[in-house]
Amino acid sequence: MSTRRFLIAGNWKMNHGVADATALVERLLQQDLPSAVDVVVCPPFVSLPATAMLLTGSRIGLGAQNVHSETQGAFTGEVAAPMLAELGVEWVIIGHSERRAMFGESDATAAARARRAQEEGLTVIFCLGETLAEREAEQTLDVIRRQASVLAGLDPARLVVAYEPVWAIGTGITATPEQAQEAHRFLRTELAGLFDDNAAGALRILYGGSLKPANAAETLSQPDVDGGLIGGASLDVEPFSAIIRAAAVLAAGESS
Ligand code: PGA
Repeated sequence: MSTRRFLIAGNWKMNHGVADATALVERLLQQDLPSAVDVVVCPPFVSLPATAMLLTGSRIGLGAQNVHSETQGAFTGEVAAPMLAELGVEWVIIGHSERRAMFGESDATAAARARRAQEEGLTVIFCLGETLAEREAEQTLDVIRRQASVLAGLDPARLVVAYEPVWAIGTGITATPEQAQEAHRFLRTELAGLFDDNAAGALRILYGGSLKPANAAETLSQPDVDGGLIGGASLDVEPFSAIIRAAAVLAAGESS
């Protein structure tokens, strides 16, 4: 039986300014969320201060969606890790495929951002995953091995890996539970090589890509799937809390 607690993280992407973010967080705080599941929400930068105030002392963690690798300076449009830490942000998504595909993020820049984030005390949710063309060319495992290789040297205790096949993000197409398990199992073996068996066994690997209440339990029940990074279904309280409850049911089953 795994000792890894489920982590359900909401990636709000470029949705929910201060008013909407505040309303959603207030509704989430009114839910009786199960204590067996760790929950994190990642609003856009501008909504972090208001949500941080609401979430202080709550069970819901707060994450950002990106962070720069330098701590200050002439980097127009970027946000530094100490600025996030000052707000009480404890988590940060790094290397999301949208950043890689649209904003020039590379394995190297993602690794540098992750290193800096950890140095400033943040826990990194590091995203990786293959494109449809790569899967069709049977390069999935090679691609995710390359993407994961830059995690060497990071602190595994402050790291979560999110496997997000690009073809499943926002498309309504989910990887099958078997496809997710195969990638997660492979990643855990890779992580054991980068760190050690204990660290790899304790490290949480989330699945991301069109996870919804209807498919969450099946995917989360795979032995190496330790939670989800949820985009679309994290934007409203009902689907997000339904996924959290699905994880809690599985956690209760595992511990009995
Ligand atoms: P999705 O997004 O759940 O809307 O597919 C997941 C993600 O990009 O993290």
